[in-house]
Amino acid sequence: MTDADWIRRAIDLARQGAGLASPGALAGAVIVNNGRVAGEGFYTYDGVHHAEILALHEAGPAARGSTVYTSLEPCAHTGRTPPCAQALIDAGVARVVSAIQDPNPLVDGRGLTMLKQAGIDVQCGILQDEARRANEAFITYITRKRPFGVLKLAMTFDGKIATRLGESQWITSEESRRAGHHLRHEVDAVVTGSGTFLKDKPQMTDRTGRPRRRELLRVVLDRRGRVGRPPGWLVFRGSLEELAAELYGREIQSILLECGPDLAFNAIRSGVVDKIVAFVAPKLLGGRETPAIGGPGAERLSEAVRLSDWTAATAGPDLVITAYVHGHH
Ligand SMILES: NC(=O)c1ccc[n+]([C@@H]2O[C@H](COP(=O)([O-])OP(=O)(O)OC[C@H]3O[C@@H](n4cnc5c(N)ncnc54)[C@H](OP(=O)(O)O)[C@@H]3O)[C@@H](O)[C@H]2O)c1
Ligand SMILES: [Zn+2]
Repeated sequence: MTDADWIRRAIDLARQGAGLASPGALAGAVIVNNGRVAGEGFYTYDGVHHAEILALHEAGPAARGSTVYTSLEPCAHTGRTPPCAQALIDAGVARVVSAIQDPNPLVDGRGLTMLKQAGIDVQCGILQDEARRANEAFITYITRKRPFGVLKLAMTFDGKIATRLGESQWITSEESRRAGHHLRHEVDAVVTGSGTFLKDKPQMTDRTGRPRRRELLRVVLDRRGRVGRPPGWLVFRGSLEELAAELYGREIQSILLECGPDLAFNAIRSGVVDKIVAFVAPKLLGGRETPAIGGPGAERLSEAVRLSDWTAATAGPDLVITAYVHGHH
């Protein structure tokens, strides 16, 4: 096992906190002594203890002289718990390897400095892209002071989300729809528009069956007041920017937008979308209407919204394309 292998393990552990850590960061730690795992941990908000502390508890005396791998720099501040850096020093660990610095301005390198000053061998920056991606919601939330926005699209190969008569259930496969529930599991809120709400009567719940610390907040955007007061939904009548501010105030770290074409376009334009996940079914519908992204459309190529870092995967027969909206991330 190399340092990178152990860091990957720490990132995998961190991910186990999905749905349980927000509004905190996902964090995982592995304590290795003589090439063997002595302790492991990952952060959940309600568990209070940070990943390093859970791993130290498990390791007990085996922490002395060990190497500690963390997906995120150990903290140096007193929040709900005392600083992890101090606990690692007190436990006598020999080496600390972290994937990334903590973007939280309260930490931001201070944890690593504290460890170095105590004579611990410190290294940071291993698998940093993976670690940053695993914590993209937390990083955006803490540095931009707004929720991380994911736009989900379910469309045909030619980018259609419905037929001319408005049939849209279901364009994509069962596997894609299951993956859609996992996207919901990873966020704190889903956001739709009054159009989808009235037409599809969607439940928009997290049906992964996995535990989550806060119920998924369901939001419907409805400026004209057409949806009434549906129980269990937050009806929001302001702009997308106002919604982002309102949800940030409620400690909503990330949102998933599942909406029609014009709202999708406006969401991208207004800067609340950081990532797009498109489930693309191997089907064609043709026609001039029902594009995945609507709005007035660009006149010039120079007006194109730039996407970056895209990757493709599959879900059953469908292709799943993930891309980041350039400039927001
Ligand atoms: N394939 C997919 O991924 C997917 C996902 C969801 C829905 N859909 C499909 O999309 C279709 C519905 O499309 P839709 O356009 O009627 O639904 P929509 O996007 O869910 O709702 C549109 C409504 O949202 C409201 N809205 C609030 N703020 C807005 C803003 N900033 N920009 C634009 N709209 C805003 C508007 O009503 P007010 O003016 O009253 O505010 C608007 O009429 C359905 O066929 C549904 O099945 C597809
Ligand atoms: Zn900590």
